[in-house]
Amino acid sequence: MRQALLDHFRATFGRAPDFLARAPGRIEFIGNHTDYNGGTVLGAAIDRGVWVALAKRADGRRRFSTMLGGPMLDLPVGTPVRQTGPAAWSNYPLGVLAVMPEFGLRVPEGFDLAVASSLPSGAGLSSSAALELASALVFLAATQQELPRETLVRLARQAENAFVGVPCGILDQAVVGLGRVGHLVFIDCRGPSFDLVPMPASARFWVFNTHTKHALVDGMYAARHRECLAAAKAAGVALLADLNAVALQASAARLGAVELRRAEHVVGEIDRVARMRVALRAGDLAAAGHLLSASHESSRTRFENSTEELDFLVTQLRAVSGVYGARLTGGGFGGAVMALTDERFDAAGAQGVSAAYGARFGAEPEVLPMATGDGAALLRI
Ligand code: GLA
Repeated sequence: MRQALLDHFRATFGRAPDFLARAPGRIEFIGNHTDYNGGTVLGAAIDRGVWVALAKRADGRRRFSTMLGGPMLDLPVGTPVRQTGPAAWSNYPLGVLAVMPEFGLRVPEGFDLAVASSLPSGAGLSSSAALELASALVFLAATQQELPRETLVRLARQAENAFVGVPCGILDQAVVGLGRVGHLVFIDCRGPSFDLVPMPASARFWVFNTHTKHALVDGMYAARHRECLAAAKAAGVALLADLNAVALQASAARLGAVELRRAEHVVGEIDRVARMRVALRAGDLAAAGHLLSASHESSRTRFENSTEELDFLVTQLRAVSGVYGARLTGGGFGGAVMALTDERFDAAGAQGVSAAYGARFGAEPEVLPMATGDGAALLRI
Protein backbone atom coordinates (compact mmCIF):
# COMPACT_ATOMS: atom_id res chain seq x y z
CA MET A 1 0.00 0.00 0.00
CA ARG A 2 2.89 2.30 0.85
CA GLN A 3 4.49 1.88 -2.59
CA ALA A 4 1.14 2.14 -4.32
CA LEU A 5 0.55 5.48 -2.61
CA LEU A 6 4.00 6.79 -3.54
CA ASP A 7 3.32 5.79 -7.17
CA HIS A 8 -0.14 7.39 -7.06
CA PHE A 9 1.35 10.57 -5.61
CA ARG A 10 3.87 10.84 -8.41
CA ALA A 11 1.30 10.05 -11.10
CA THR A 12 -1.15 12.61 -9.68
CA PHE A 13 1.12 15.45 -8.66
CA GLY A 14 4.21 14.84 -10.81
CA ARG A 15 6.69 14.62 -7.93
CA ALA A 16 7.51 12.70 -4.76
CA PRO A 17 5.98 13.56 -1.37
CA ASP A 18 8.05 15.11 1.43
CA PHE A 19 6.26 13.32 4.26
CA LEU A 20 4.42 10.04 4.77
CA ALA A 21 2.39 8.79 7.74
CA ARG A 22 0.41 5.68 8.48
CA ALA A 23 -2.37 5.17 11.03
CA PRO A 24 -4.11 1.86 11.81
CA GLY A 25 -7.78 1.06 12.00
CA ARG A 26 -9.13 -0.25 15.28
CA ILE A 27 -11.36 -2.90 16.74
CA GLU A 28 -13.62 -1.94 19.60
CA PHE A 29 -12.99 -4.97 21.82
CA ILE A 30 -15.46 -4.25 24.62
CA GLY A 31 -17.02 -1.17 26.18
CA ASN A 32 -19.73 -0.24 23.73
CA HIS A 33 -20.92 3.39 23.78
CA THR A 34 -19.15 3.93 27.08
CA ASP A 35 -16.65 6.54 25.90
CA TYR A 36 -18.90 9.61 25.70
CA ASN A 37 -20.51 8.51 28.96
CA GLY A 38 -17.21 8.90 30.82
CA GLY A 39 -16.73 5.14 31.08
CA THR A 40 -13.98 2.66 30.28
CA VAL A 41 -13.30 0.79 27.04
CA LEU A 42 -10.79 -1.61 25.50
CA GLY A 43 -9.79 -1.46 21.83
CA ALA A 44 -7.00 -2.78 19.62
CA ALA A 45 -5.14 -1.13 16.77
CA ILE A 46 -5.10 -3.51 13.79
CA ASP A 47 -2.69 -4.37 10.99
CA ARG A 48 -4.65 -2.49 8.32
CA GLY A 49 -4.77 1.24 8.03
CA VAL A 50 -4.58 4.52 6.17
CA TRP A 51 -1.50 6.15 4.59
CA VAL A 52 -1.23 9.90 3.96
CA ALA A 53 1.52 11.48 1.83
CA LEU A 54 2.15 15.21 1.58
CA ALA A 55 4.38 17.62 -0.35
CA LYS A 56 4.45 21.34 0.33
CA ARG A 57 3.40 23.89 -2.30
CA ALA A 58 4.29 27.57 -2.42
CA ASP A 59 1.39 28.83 -4.57
CA GLY A 60 -1.43 28.99 -2.03
CA ARG A 61 -3.29 25.86 -3.15
CA ARG A 62 -4.22 22.74 -1.24
CA ARG A 63 -4.88 19.70 -3.40
CA PHE A 64 -6.36 16.45 -2.11
CA SER A 65 -6.40 13.10 -3.89
CA THR A 66 -7.52 9.65 -2.75
CA MET A 67 -6.70 6.28 -4.24
CA LEU A 68 -10.25 5.25 -3.39
CA GLY A 69 -11.38 7.17 -6.49
CA GLY A 70 -13.12 10.43 -7.27
CA PRO A 71 -11.80 13.70 -8.63
CA MET A 72 -8.92 15.65 -7.11
CA LEU A 73 -10.02 18.46 -4.85
CA ASP A 74 -8.28 21.81 -5.33
CA LEU A 75 -8.86 24.40 -2.59
CA PRO A 76 -7.27 27.76 -1.77
CA VAL A 77 -5.41 28.12 1.54
CA GLY A 78 -7.42 29.79 4.29
CA THR A 79 -10.10 28.72 6.70
CA PRO A 80 -11.23 25.17 5.80
CA VAL A 81 -14.77 24.85 4.51
CA ARG A 82 -16.76 21.66 5.08
CA GLN A 83 -17.20 19.62 1.88
CA THR A 84 -20.21 17.58 0.80
CA GLY A 85 -20.81 14.82 -1.77
CA PRO A 86 -17.85 12.88 -3.21
CA ALA A 87 -15.36 15.31 -1.62
CA ALA A 88 -16.68 14.65 1.91
CA TRP A 89 -13.73 12.34 2.72
CA SER A 90 -11.50 15.46 2.76
CA ASN A 91 -13.39 16.74 5.82
CA TYR A 92 -11.09 14.60 8.00
CA PRO A 93 -7.81 16.31 6.97
CA LEU A 94 -9.66 19.63 6.66
CA GLY A 95 -11.05 19.17 10.17
CA VAL A 96 -7.53 18.66 11.51
CA LEU A 97 -6.40 21.88 9.80
CA ALA A 98 -9.44 23.69 11.19
CA VAL A 99 -8.71 22.80 14.83
CA MET A 100 -4.89 23.10 14.81
CA PRO A 101 -4.98 26.81 15.80
CA GLU A 102 -7.12 25.96 18.87
CA PHE A 103 -4.20 23.82 20.01
CA GLY A 104 -1.74 26.68 19.53
CA LEU A 105 -0.37 25.17 16.31
CA ARG A 106 0.68 26.73 13.03
CA VAL A 107 -1.18 25.40 10.00
CA PRO A 108 0.64 24.33 6.81
CA GLU A 109 -0.10 26.67 3.90
CA GLY A 110 -0.17 25.07 0.43
CA PHE A 111 0.30 21.35 -0.10
CA ASP A 112 -0.52 18.31 -2.20
CA LEU A 113 -1.95 15.45 -0.15
CA ALA A 114 -2.83 11.89 -1.18
CA VAL A 115 -4.48 9.07 0.73
CA ALA A 116 -4.48 5.28 0.43
CA SER A 117 -6.29 2.78 2.65
CA SER A 118 -6.34 -0.94 3.33
CA LEU A 119 -9.35 -0.57 5.62
CA PRO A 120 -12.76 -1.58 4.39
CA SER A 121 -14.95 1.50 4.73
CA GLY A 122 -18.24 1.30 6.58
CA ALA A 123 -17.07 -1.68 8.66
CA GLY A 124 -16.80 0.35 11.84
CA LEU A 125 -13.01 -0.01 11.89
CA SER A 126 -12.39 3.75 12.23
CA SER A 127 -10.99 4.69 8.86
CA SER A 128 -12.00 8.25 9.73
CA ALA A 129 -9.91 8.40 12.92
CA ALA A 130 -7.00 6.81 11.03
CA LEU A 131 -7.24 9.50 8.34
CA GLU A 132 -7.36 12.23 11.01
CA LEU A 133 -4.30 10.93 12.87
CA ALA A 134 -2.20 10.29 9.75
CA SER A 135 -3.13 13.73 8.37
CA ALA A 136 -2.24 15.41 11.65
CA LEU A 137 1.20 13.74 11.62
CA VAL A 138 2.09 14.97 8.11
CA PHE A 139 0.77 18.47 8.87
CA LEU A 140 2.91 18.64 12.01
CA ALA A 141 5.96 17.33 10.14
CA ALA A 142 5.44 19.87 7.35
CA THR A 143 5.41 22.71 9.88
CA GLN A 144 8.21 21.27 12.06
CA GLN A 145 6.01 21.01 15.12
CA GLU A 146 5.55 18.19 17.61
CA LEU A 147 2.75 17.27 19.97
CA PRO A 148 2.56 14.88 22.91
CA ARG A 149 0.70 11.77 21.72
CA GLU A 150 -2.27 12.31 24.03
CA THR A 151 -2.72 15.88 22.77
CA LEU A 152 -2.61 14.59 19.19
CA VAL A 153 -5.42 12.18 20.08
CA ARG A 154 -7.51 15.01 21.55
CA LEU A 155 -6.87 17.18 18.50
CA ALA A 156 -8.09 14.42 16.15
CA ARG A 157 -11.23 13.90 18.20
CA GLN A 158 -11.87 17.64 18.22
CA ALA A 159 -11.62 17.62 14.40
CA GLU A 160 -14.30 14.93 14.26
CA ASN A 161 -16.59 16.60 16.84
CA ALA A 162 -16.26 20.24 15.81
CA PHE A 163 -15.63 20.08 12.03
CA VAL A 164 -16.96 16.77 10.75
CA GLY A 165 -19.87 17.07 13.19
CA VAL A 166 -19.94 13.57 14.71
CA PRO A 167 -20.33 13.67 18.54
CA CYS A 168 -18.04 10.63 19.03
CA GLY A 169 -16.11 9.89 22.20
CA ILE A 170 -12.35 9.41 22.35
CA LEU A 171 -12.20 5.65 21.69
CA ASP A 172 -11.32 5.66 17.99
CA GLN A 173 -8.67 8.37 18.04
CA ALA A 174 -7.08 7.03 21.25
CA VAL A 175 -6.72 3.46 19.98
CA VAL A 176 -5.49 4.63 16.56
CA GLY A 177 -3.00 6.97 18.24
CA LEU A 178 -1.82 4.80 21.12
CA GLY A 179 -2.18 1.18 19.94
CA ARG A 180 0.65 -1.32 20.15
CA VAL A 181 1.18 -4.75 18.58
CA GLY A 182 0.10 -7.54 20.93
CA HIS A 183 -1.85 -5.18 23.16
CA LEU A 184 -5.24 -3.69 23.79
CA VAL A 185 -5.56 -0.02 24.67
CA PHE A 186 -7.49 0.57 27.89
CA ILE A 187 -9.09 4.00 28.13
CA ASP A 188 -10.70 5.60 31.14
CA CYS A 189 -12.51 8.25 29.16
CA ARG A 190 -13.17 10.58 32.03
CA GLY A 191 -9.55 11.73 32.47
CA PRO A 192 -8.95 10.62 29.89
CA SER A 193 -6.19 8.23 30.92
CA PHE A 194 -4.70 5.38 28.95
CA ASP A 195 -2.98 2.07 29.57
CA LEU A 196 -1.75 -0.87 27.47
CA VAL A 197 -3.09 -4.34 28.30
CA PRO A 198 -1.22 -7.36 26.89
CA MET A 199 -3.34 -9.67 24.75
CA PRO A 200 -2.78 -13.41 25.38
CA ALA A 201 -0.54 -14.62 22.53
CA SER A 202 -2.86 -17.41 21.40
CA ALA A 203 -5.86 -15.08 20.89
CA ARG A 204 -6.96 -14.28 17.35
CA PHE A 205 -9.43 -11.73 15.99
CA TRP A 206 -11.69 -12.15 13.00
CA VAL A 207 -13.89 -9.43 11.57
CA PHE A 208 -16.99 -10.16 9.50
CA ASN A 209 -18.07 -7.05 7.62
CA THR A 210 -21.74 -7.17 6.63
CA HIS A 211 -21.48 -4.16 4.30
CA THR A 212 -24.83 -3.12 5.71
CA LYS A 213 -25.38 0.30 7.16
CA HIS A 214 -28.53 1.74 8.60
CA ALA A 215 -29.59 4.68 6.44
CA LEU A 216 -29.78 6.93 9.50
CA VAL A 217 -26.65 5.67 11.25
CA ASP A 218 -25.23 9.12 12.11
CA GLY A 219 -28.58 10.29 13.39
CA MET A 220 -29.03 7.12 15.44
CA TYR A 221 -25.60 7.55 17.03
CA ALA A 222 -26.44 11.13 17.99
CA ALA A 223 -29.83 9.98 19.31
CA ARG A 224 -28.20 7.37 21.57
CA HIS A 225 -25.80 10.05 22.81
CA ARG A 226 -28.75 12.28 23.73
CA GLU A 227 -30.64 9.41 25.38
CA CYS A 228 -27.63 8.58 27.53
CA LEU A 229 -27.20 12.17 28.66
CA ALA A 230 -30.92 12.37 29.42
CA ALA A 231 -30.73 9.12 31.42
CA ALA A 232 -27.81 10.47 33.46
CA LYS A 233 -29.70 13.69 34.14
CA ALA A 234 -32.81 11.83 35.24
CA ALA A 235 -30.67 9.71 37.58
CA GLY A 236 -29.16 12.86 39.06
CA VAL A 237 -25.57 12.33 37.84
CA ALA A 238 -23.43 14.14 35.28
CA LEU A 239 -22.50 11.03 33.30
CA LEU A 240 -23.71 7.42 33.26
CA ALA A 241 -20.23 6.31 34.38
CA ASP A 242 -21.06 7.91 37.74
CA LEU A 243 -23.50 5.03 38.35
CA ASN A 244 -22.92 1.40 39.17
CA ALA A 245 -25.58 -1.30 38.92
CA VAL A 246 -26.83 -0.73 42.48
CA ALA A 247 -27.06 3.06 42.11
CA LEU A 248 -28.82 2.66 38.78
CA GLN A 249 -31.45 0.35 40.25
CA ALA A 250 -31.97 2.84 43.08
CA SER A 251 -32.79 5.58 40.58
CA ALA A 252 -34.60 3.35 38.07
CA ALA A 253 -38.02 4.79 38.91
CA ARG A 254 -36.91 8.25 37.79
CA LEU A 255 -35.88 7.03 34.33
CA GLY A 256 -38.15 6.36 31.38
CA ALA A 257 -38.15 2.78 30.05
CA VAL A 258 -35.89 3.63 27.10
CA GLU A 259 -33.52 5.66 29.27
CA LEU A 260 -33.26 2.79 31.71
CA ARG A 261 -32.35 0.29 28.98
CA ARG A 262 -29.67 2.62 27.60
CA ALA A 263 -28.25 3.21 31.07
CA GLU A 264 -28.24 -0.52 31.90
CA HIS A 265 -26.23 -1.19 28.76
CA VAL A 266 -23.60 1.44 29.52
CA VAL A 267 -23.29 0.56 33.21
CA GLY A 268 -23.16 -3.16 32.30
CA GLU A 269 -20.46 -2.54 29.69
CA ILE A 270 -18.28 -0.65 32.16
CA ASP A 271 -18.59 -3.62 34.52
CA ARG A 272 -17.72 -6.03 31.69
CA VAL A 273 -14.62 -4.00 30.81
CA ALA A 274 -13.38 -4.43 34.40
CA ARG A 275 -14.12 -8.15 34.29
CA MET A 276 -12.41 -8.40 30.93
CA ARG A 277 -9.20 -6.97 32.34
CA VAL A 278 -9.28 -9.63 35.04
CA ALA A 279 -9.96 -12.39 32.51
CA LEU A 280 -7.13 -11.25 30.23
CA ARG A 281 -4.69 -10.98 33.10
CA ALA A 282 -5.53 -14.59 33.98
CA GLY A 283 -5.28 -15.65 30.32
CA ASP A 284 -8.87 -16.91 30.60
CA LEU A 285 -10.08 -16.54 27.01
CA ALA A 286 -13.23 -18.58 27.66
CA ALA A 287 -14.31 -16.00 30.25
CA ALA A 288 -13.33 -13.22 27.84
CA GLY A 289 -15.52 -14.79 25.16
CA HIS A 290 -18.53 -14.95 27.48
CA LEU A 291 -18.12 -11.27 28.23
CA LEU A 292 -18.04 -10.44 24.50
CA SER A 293 -21.21 -12.40 23.88
CA ALA A 294 -22.90 -10.79 26.89
CA SER A 295 -21.92 -7.41 25.49
CA HIS A 296 -23.59 -8.22 22.18
CA GLU A 297 -26.73 -9.43 23.91
CA SER A 298 -26.90 -6.17 25.80
CA SER A 299 -26.49 -4.21 22.55
CA ARG A 300 -29.29 -6.23 21.03
CA THR A 301 -31.79 -5.90 23.83
CA ARG A 302 -30.84 -2.79 25.79
CA PHE A 303 -29.01 -0.39 23.53
CA GLU A 304 -30.85 -1.53 20.40
CA ASN A 305 -27.88 -0.79 18.15
CA SER A 306 -27.65 -4.25 16.61
CA THR A 307 -29.27 -5.48 13.42
CA GLU A 308 -30.66 -8.79 12.18
CA GLU A 309 -27.46 -9.34 10.14
CA LEU A 310 -25.14 -8.72 13.09
CA ASP A 311 -27.26 -10.92 15.39
CA PHE A 312 -27.19 -13.73 12.84
CA LEU A 313 -23.39 -13.65 12.59
CA VAL A 314 -22.95 -13.61 16.36
CA THR A 315 -25.31 -16.58 16.79
CA GLN A 316 -23.57 -18.56 14.04
CA LEU A 317 -20.09 -17.77 15.31
CA ARG A 318 -20.88 -18.73 18.87
CA ALA A 319 -21.78 -22.24 17.67
CA VAL A 320 -18.43 -22.82 15.93
CA SER A 321 -15.65 -24.58 17.78
CA GLY A 322 -12.64 -22.37 18.39
CA VAL A 323 -14.75 -19.21 18.77
CA TYR A 324 -14.66 -17.84 22.32
CA GLY A 325 -17.23 -15.12 21.72
CA ALA A 326 -18.43 -12.50 19.26
CA ARG A 327 -20.07 -9.09 19.28
CA LEU A 328 -20.78 -6.12 17.09
CA THR A 329 -17.81 -3.77 17.05
CA GLY A 330 -18.13 0.01 16.98
CA GLY A 331 -21.21 2.18 16.87
CA GLY A 332 -23.54 -0.53 15.56
CA PHE A 333 -26.63 -0.15 13.33
CA GLY A 334 -24.77 -2.23 10.72
CA GLY A 335 -21.06 -2.61 10.10
CA ALA A 336 -19.11 -5.55 11.43
CA VAL A 337 -18.96 -8.32 14.00
CA MET A 338 -15.71 -9.17 15.76
CA ALA A 339 -14.95 -12.70 16.96
CA LEU A 340 -12.30 -13.73 19.46
CA THR A 341 -10.97 -17.15 18.52
CA ASP A 342 -8.21 -19.61 19.30
CA GLU A 343 -5.40 -20.43 16.87
CA ARG A 344 -7.23 -23.40 15.38
CA PHE A 345 -10.14 -21.37 14.02
CA ASP A 346 -9.30 -20.89 10.35
CA ALA A 347 -10.58 -19.83 6.95
CA ALA A 348 -12.66 -23.02 6.67
CA GLY A 349 -14.46 -22.21 9.94
CA ALA A 350 -15.03 -18.66 8.78
CA GLN A 351 -16.28 -19.87 5.40
CA GLY A 352 -18.95 -22.00 7.04
CA VAL A 353 -20.31 -18.93 8.83
CA SER A 354 -20.11 -16.84 5.65
CA ALA A 355 -21.97 -19.44 3.63
CA ALA A 356 -24.78 -19.63 6.19
CA TYR A 357 -25.00 -15.84 6.16
CA GLY A 358 -25.02 -15.80 2.36
CA ALA A 359 -27.82 -18.36 2.24
CA ARG A 360 -29.88 -16.20 4.58
CA PHE A 361 -29.15 -12.68 3.31
CA GLY A 362 -28.14 -13.25 -0.31
CA ALA A 363 -24.54 -12.03 -0.13
CA GLU A 364 -21.62 -13.24 1.95
CA PRO A 365 -19.88 -10.93 4.40
CA GLU A 366 -16.29 -9.83 3.90
CA VAL A 367 -14.12 -12.00 6.17
CA LEU A 368 -11.02 -10.33 7.58
CA PRO A 369 -8.56 -12.13 9.85
CA MET A 370 -6.94 -9.40 11.93
CA ALA A 371 -3.74 -9.03 13.84
CA THR A 372 -3.07 -6.28 16.35
CA GLY A 373 -0.98 -3.38 15.06
CA ASP A 374 0.96 -0.31 16.14
CA GLY A 375 -0.47 3.17 16.53
CA ALA A 376 -0.10 6.07 14.08
CA ALA A 377 3.45 6.93 13.01
CA LEU A 378 5.40 9.12 10.63
CA LEU A 379 7.33 6.92 8.18
CA ARG A 380 10.63 7.48 6.46
CA ILE A 381 10.18 7.83 2.71
C1 GLA B 1 -18.15 4.82 17.33
C2 GLA B 1 -17.62 6.11 17.94
C3 GLA B 1 -16.85 5.83 19.24
C4 GLA B 1 -17.69 5.00 20.19
C5 GLA B 1 -18.27 3.78 19.47
C6 GLA B 1 -19.24 3.01 20.31
O1 GLA B 1 -17.08 4.01 16.93
O2 GLA B 1 -16.78 6.78 17.02
O3 GLA B 1 -16.45 7.05 19.83
O4 GLA B 1 -18.71 5.77 20.78
O5 GLA B 1 -18.95 4.14 18.28
O6 GLA B 1 -18.62 2.49 21.43
